[in-house]
Amino acid sequence: MAVGPLRVAAGVVRLRPVRLRDAAQWSRIRLSDRRHLEPWEPSTDMNWEVRHAVSAWPSVCSGLRSEARKGRMLPYAIDLDGQFVGQLTIGNVTHGALRSAWIGYWVSSASTGGGVATAALALGVDHCFGPVMLHRVEATVRPENTASRAVLTKAGFREEGLLKRYLDVDGAWRDHLLVAITIEEVNGSVSSALVRGGHASWA
Ligand code: ACO
Repeated sequence: MAVGPLRVAAGVVRLRPVRLRDAAQWSRIRLSDRRHLEPWEPSTDMNWEVRHAVSAWPSVCSGLRSEARKGRMLPYAIDLDGQFVGQLTIGNVTHGALRSAWIGYWVSSASTGGGVATAALALGVDHCFGPVMLHRVEATVRPENTASRAVLTKAGFREEGLLKRYLDVDGAWRDHLLVAITIEEVNGSVSSALVRGGHASWA
């Protein structure tokens, strides 16, 4: 099921489930944007080129979809004007008395600076607080990641603390800020707050 759309300076942003035919575009962006992405992503033992080859996507995609079927994850492609430009993932979806999840995203360097991540995050959070019926959404971000911190702030996330040496990112244990938003902090929806603030319009 697609989520959105919202119009921002860069174009029309929509979230939709990842699909097998995203392979070529996903691989092209991930390979050419290594320097843009790698400083912010968890370290792995696997070589970047191998991990992001076109042939790697089917198993990445089916792994994400299998988690989605179990209700633990909501893995979205971010489409800008109908083209795949990044991913937004909602993970560790927990119901019961916690009703919480984490959220993370990336956008291709060619599509940054035009509000794409902010719109995608707003749509993702609204989906969590709407149909998924969560109460809290959290994210972790490196203090040095100024662009992502700006995105989280624009969507209404607030800082809760500093997690020391939290995650192995780009080859070392890195501090991360924990940020969160709960449904009580949202006036209507995050998307409508962006529209009211002049950051987006309804598409
Ligand atoms: N210093 C200060 N502010 C900056 C800088 C910078 N160097 N670069 C960008 N910004 C600001 C922009 O001005 C803008 O804020 P504004 O609208 O208030 O002016 C904001 O950062 C970016 O907002 P968007 O245009 O909505 O975001 P964009 O589509 O450019 O995507 C993103 C931002 C997702 C961080 C992208 O650069 C990216 O994919 N980076 C690499 C991967 C990454 O860092 N992912 C996030 C990890 S953390 C997480 O997932 C919770």
